[in-house]
Amino acid sequence: MGTPALHETISKSFDIAWVREQFPSLQLQVNGQPAAFLDGPAGTQVPRQVMDAVQKYFLEANANTYGAFLTSRRTNEMVSAARAAMADLFNCAPDEVVFGQNMTTITLGLSRAIGRELQPGDEILLTMLDHDANFSPWKALEEKGVVIRKVEIRESDCTLDLDDLKSKLNSKTRLVAVGYASNAVGSINPVAKITNLAHAAGAMCFIDAVHYAPHGPMDVKALDCDFLVCSPYKFFGPHMGTLYGKKHLLEKFKPYKVRPAADAVPECWETGTQVQELIAGVHAAVEYIAELGRRCDPSATDRRSALLAAYRSTVAYERALVTRLIEGLLAIPGLRFFGITDPERFAERCSTVSFRLAKGTPTDAATFLGDRGIFTWDGNFYALNLTECLGVEQHGGVLRVGLVHYNTTAEVDRLLAAVRDFAFS
Ligand SMILES: Cc1ncc(COP(=O)(O)O)c(C=O)c1O
Repeated sequence: MGTPALHETISKSFDIAWVREQFPSLQLQVNGQPAAFLDGPAGTQVPRQVMDAVQKYFLEANANTYGAFLTSRRTNEMVSAARAAMADLFNCAPDEVVFGQNMTTITLGLSRAIGRELQPGDEILLTMLDHDANFSPWKALEEKGVVIRKVEIRESDCTLDLDDLKSKLNSKTRLVAVGYASNAVGSINPVAKITNLAHAAGAMCFIDAVHYAPHGPMDVKALDCDFLVCSPYKFFGPHMGTLYGKKHLLEKFKPYKVRPAADAVPECWETGTQVQELIAGVHAAVEYIAELGRRCDPSATDRRSALLAAYRSTVAYERALVTRLIEGLLAIPGLRFFGITDPERFAERCSTVSFRLAKGTPTDAATFLGDRGIFTWDGNFYALNLTECLGVEQHGGVLRVGLVHYNTTAEVDRLLAAVRDFAFS
């Protein structure tokens, strides 16, 4: 590997031993080998703090909201505290945070509510890089006469074609829905610039930050986006989704809801009884990231500063890991890599990589690796437009390796050795 000094510097400043101690499930063994969780893009492992918070909720606060007794009051307080924690993660006000089942369900609800206000001939701009959860819910509005336009990708590096995006924005565009980072190939989109372009055309901007959230800091104020969604189970929390919406927009659009449920923002967007115990877990996931930040930078005292400090460290740590991974993969004869490979451009990607091998299908490779305790994913990961554009959809898609901050250099090396074994056995 060409950058040993960089790896050493990063590992010294990042307490990977402490990080791994927080995640009990990382101890799992498969066929006598330690499990290597390289499946983060489909859902990360959770730290003990999250498990403890869920258990504590069940023990001390389990009730529905707005009752006149102790556990219900505790539930209200817990939800408010979790909203405040998510507000620090998004950099918004707590009443701009909506909880939901997952990103897909939230986006389907929001797209229907926005669709109520659209007229035939209004346009929505989508991308060929996005997960289908940021495509189909908007495309469904075609049944109301809405025109869907699609931004193409540059196949050479799997990034969005911004010229194409600009050429498809016009005075009829009402919304641009774009991913912050690709869950299939790791490209990070220039979402601040895209939000600006959307606003200049008079359109709203909806950002799918599900894949980005474990890899980088979100700042909805700086982005000035209108909506942003992410799913806590991708950033070390439980299986849920969360939405940020500008308050005046959460008030303007009307969600489909039942009559007795709250009319006030943000609760009017939270359909039915929420999974309260998991909301407690979301709060704990944010606190875990903040705790990591305080360890990396003891001068970071308030929660938002601590969260930013955590991301400063994990971005650098993951960059070193992915640099090593990509160098190793590119040295494997016959491997077809999808996405950015130039280290000078690694600020435009996160630590999720996809490729195909000359031998076997992605499922064959994932099974071979899985039997050796190395967890990767094969297929399209619902980034269906992308695998179709790349011509691999009919051939099993791609093999995806996702690194997060609890992964190690040793795991990267083990993966590379196993991929070579598979390719040449
Ligand atoms: C980029 C991206 N967007 C959206 C989704 C859908 O999220 P959820 O499972 O919370 O509906 C995923 C899930 O993998 C994703 O990776």
